Amino acid sequence: MTTPSGQSESIVILDFGSQYAQLIARRVRENGVYSVLARPEVTADEVRQLNCKGLIFTGGPASVYEDGAPRCLPEMLELGVPILGICYGMQIACQMLGADVKPSASREYGRVSLSVGQPDGLLKNFPADTTAWMSHGDQVKDLGDDFVPLAATPSCPIAAVRHKTQPFYGVQFHPEVTHTPHGRELFVNFLYDICGCEGLWKMGSFIESVVAGVRKTVGPDERVICGLSGGVDSSVVAAMLHEAIGDRLACIFVDNGLLRMNEVQLVQSTFADHFKIDLTTVPAADKFISRLAGVTDPQEKRRIIGHTFIEAFKDAAEHVPNARFLAQGTLYPDVIESGHSLAGQAANIKLHHNVGGLPEELGFELIEPLRDLFKDEVRQVGELLGLPEHLVWRHPFPGPGLAVRCLGEVTPDRLDLLRKCDNILIEEIVAADLYRKTAQTFVVLLPIRSVGVMGDGRTYENVVAVRSVDTSDFMTADWSRIPYDVLATISNRIINEVKGVNRVVYDISSKPPATIEWE
Ligand code: XMP
Repeated sequence: MTTPSGQSESIVILDFGSQYAQLIARRVRENGVYSVLARPEVTADEVRQLNCKGLIFTGGPASVYEDGAPRCLPEMLELGVPILGICYGMQIACQMLGADVKPSASREYGRVSLSVGQPDGLLKNFPADTTAWMSHGDQVKDLGDDFVPLAATPSCPIAAVRHKTQPFYGVQFHPEVTHTPHGRELFVNFLYDICGCEGLWKMGSFIESVVAGVRKTVGPDERVICGLSGGVDSSVVAAMLHEAIGDRLACIFVDNGLLRMNEVQLVQSTFADHFKIDLTTVPAADKFISRLAGVTDPQEKRRIIGHTFIEAFKDAAEHVPNARFLAQGTLYPDVIESGHSLAGQAANIKLHHNVGGLPEELGFELIEPLRDLFKDEVRQVGELLGLPEHLVWRHPFPGPGLAVRCLGEVTPDRLDLLRKCDNILIEEIVAADLYRKTAQTFVVLLPIRSVGVMGDGRTYENVVAVRSVDTSDFMTADWSRIPYDVLATISNRIINEVKGVNRVVYDISSKPPATIEWE
């Protein structure tokens, strides 16, 4: 039997509100086992349908003895599959199995030393003395006779535990974060030695199963439309569908005049020339730019761009005969955030910008081949399908494009200047080997001018800001610590090479409270 997404083994992760829930899911997958996030009150039947080989209970902000603290159904503990409780997940399971949890005299946050009493089973290959990442106020105080303690920290005598007769294991520390150096071993031990997983989650077999599914769904005379944006998600969707149905895939790429330098050529050369995909490029730049004339309000810009995009896309889609399906690059985090998964509303709700999206009224059935994947997995799929490296690793780019990086009025001249600055920045970031180390790096053209001096003359010209952030989920982000000498080269090159710019500033705001984009 296979899961709804075709997997014959999985680990189900009950999310008790942890900021690390998605990270745990990725750690499991990185080690070769498919994982799914679920709300705490998921039922045994729902879990069984996923061919579950083991459960993980995440951490969470609550205290197990508080009213309304999230709990799982008692039937979870009777499923017979091994359970790993992490932090709050350990405490709730220990409490349900009869142990006593209390607030601790000293809270533990950060890196602590860990003494391992039993370096086997869950902690196989752990040295006797190591470190682990802690973040808790409560701890399990009295285990009773049914548990065996496995490890301790100076202020937490029961930092890891196993039940004597049931397949339950718990750790008070966080094995999922890189600050716990032996965290990976812990996952491997749990997945393979304890749960008996076979390690069937491989991107190659994932592609095969999606390709087979698409071939079954799409009839021999039917066609699928895919909107390309130049970004990695839609590119991977297109490459995957092309693998499945060849020339029954029709791609539409709206050139809105708000794209990065050479982006139109990159999309055309990759998809039309290399993959020989049926690609329609809609030349809509004039329409977008004329509708944006005189508009400075960010929300108004987004609204105009959203409407114009739908209009242009619809026009092009109507010319594709026998089109029944629309392929979209929805990812697993989007599925979780929309509340349409076993995870319910437990995960953080992201405000969807939803520009560059398409309304349901277009009347197509959706195909979403990436809805089980995290972003890093999408990139792996892209590489396996032969997409060029610079497309697979491209930084995200907002649907409204350069319009929201051109603060104030969007004009062809200002867009041109912004594109030149942005291109220099990216060239230097690539040259300094920082492109893959930063999550998103770009230039913003500010709506002000500043005084400068060039040669013997006074100048009064544009100011641009460089923005570069480090993040994995784009919901929080820190500004990248780009070395000063790289910043110096970027600034020199922009001011020397781009006429009309006399000042470059670097944005040192984290998100929150700032956002990644400026508008
Ligand atoms: P913010 O600026 O909200 O952005 O911190 C988070 C991520 O979302 C991207 N972004 C957008 N993506 N349409 C999109 O498809 C949009 O309207 C939009 N606005 C922001 C942003 O580039 C960053 O990666």
